[in-house]
Amino acid sequence: MIDGIREEVAIIDESDIILVRKTVREAATKFNYSLTDVTRIVTAASELARNIFLYAGSGVMRWRLLEGNGAKGMELIFEDRGPGITDLEQAFQEGYSTSGGLGLGLPGTQRLMDEMEIDTRVGVGTTVVVRKWQRRY
Ligand SMILES: Nc1ncnc2c1ncn2[C@@H]1O[C@H](COP(=O)(O)OP(=O)(O)OP(=O)(O)O)[C@@H](O)[C@H]1O
Ligand SMILES: [Mg+2]
Repeated sequence: MIDGIREEVAIIDESDIILVRKTVREAATKFNYSLTDVTRIVTAASELARNIFLYAGSGVMRWRLLEGNGAKGMELIFEDRGPGITDLEQAFQEGYSTSGGLGLGLPGTQRLMDEMEIDTRVGVGTTVVVRKWQRRY
């Protein structure tokens, strides 16, 4: 816990997506991101949490603050032991969805965040790491 904000949220029920949103919103706000950036981070977190709920069934979200080399940022990690993603390139194409969705979650998240890394193995699971750096004034 940092100032009453949990650093880890288990994603098991659909309602946990709301808890992820609330947790990330509180952390990003506390870390003085602009309102626009808070919204971007919360939207990305929401998409990744929903993907875990939909495709893996369950998983976990963790966040931490990054500091070093004069830069500050926030990192979010989404980890599941679901089916994995067979074709990552395809998964990142706008409109590609295996669930009849819009297929915008992953490409949208990539646009909203500064950095995005995915480690996925079929039959093992998926870990998505996203980062947002703070603008220096
Ligand atoms: N954690 C995951 N585990 C397994 N497959 C995943 C995971 N996340 C995404 N995928 C696969 O990648 C595809 C694309 O994901 P993306 O979030 O971009 O679109 P979507 O979830 O289908 O639709 P939308 O997010 O727009 O509602 C999904 O349809 C699914 O097949
Ligand atoms: Mg999605």
